Amino acid sequence: MEASKNLIGLKDKVVKFCNSREDILRFSGHIPKNLRYHANAPQKQPVQKLIGRISTTEFLNTKNILDSIIRTNYELKWNTTYSENEVGTDFIKRYGWFDLIGPNGPFHMEGIRIMIGYWGANLDYQMHWHEAEEAYVPLAGSALFWSEHNGTKIAGVGDIVIHKSNEKHWTKMTDGFLLALAIWKGTNLSVNPKISSRDGTKIHEVKEKKD
Ligand SMILES: [Fe+2]
Repeated sequence: MEASKNLIGLKDKVVKFCNSREDILRFSGHIPKNLRYHANAPQKQPVQKLIGRISTTEFLNTKNILDSIIRTNYELKWNTTYSENEVGTDFIKRYGWFDLIGPNGPFHMEGIRIMIGYWGANLDYQMHWHEAEEAYVPLAGSALFWSEHNGTKIAGVGDIVIHKSNEKHWTKMTDGFLLALAIWKGTNLSVNPKISSRDGTKIHEVKEKKD
C-alpha cells in the first residue's frame, strides 16, 4: 500500500524542516527523504477537534507543516499513551500524538523516532522520563519546560529542548496550547515513559495501549 499524498506531503515537509535546522541536525543527524512506508490504521481521539482549530497563519515559519497536519488529521493514528488514572480526564481529552517516522512507522527508520504531539492550554504534563534521548521542537505555541539538567525555560517556535536518557522532565502549557515535534534517539525506541502521579507520590510504569 502506498502512502496518501497528504501523508507524504507531511513527511516531506517535516524531513525538510529537520534537515534545515542546525540544532536538530546536531541531535538527530540527516533524515533521509525516501523511507519505506507501512500503513498505520487511523485512530480517532478527541484531540483531533483541537488540531482543526489551530490558526496556522499565526505561525508563518511552520505554517506549511501545520496546514499539512490539519489536512492529514483524520488519516493519522492518534494515540494517548497514558490512562485517565495517571493523568486525568481533561488531559486525555486535550492531548494526543502520532508517529510519523521511526521503527513503528508509518515511515520506517531505525535509531530515530519522530512523533508530533499536541497539548491543550493549561495542561500540566507531569514529571516523566524514558530511556530514549529526546528533543522537543515546538511547531506552534509555547510552553514552560523543566528538566533536571536544564531547569525551567519557556520554549516556542524556533527553540529546541533536549533531554538526556532517563532525565526527568515536565511541561506546563502556561501560554496556550503547544504543538511540537518529539524526536527520540536511541537503540530501543519502543520503551515507554514512566510517569509520576498527579500528587507526585506514585510512579507508574506506562504500558502503551497496543492495537
Ligand atoms: Fe519526554
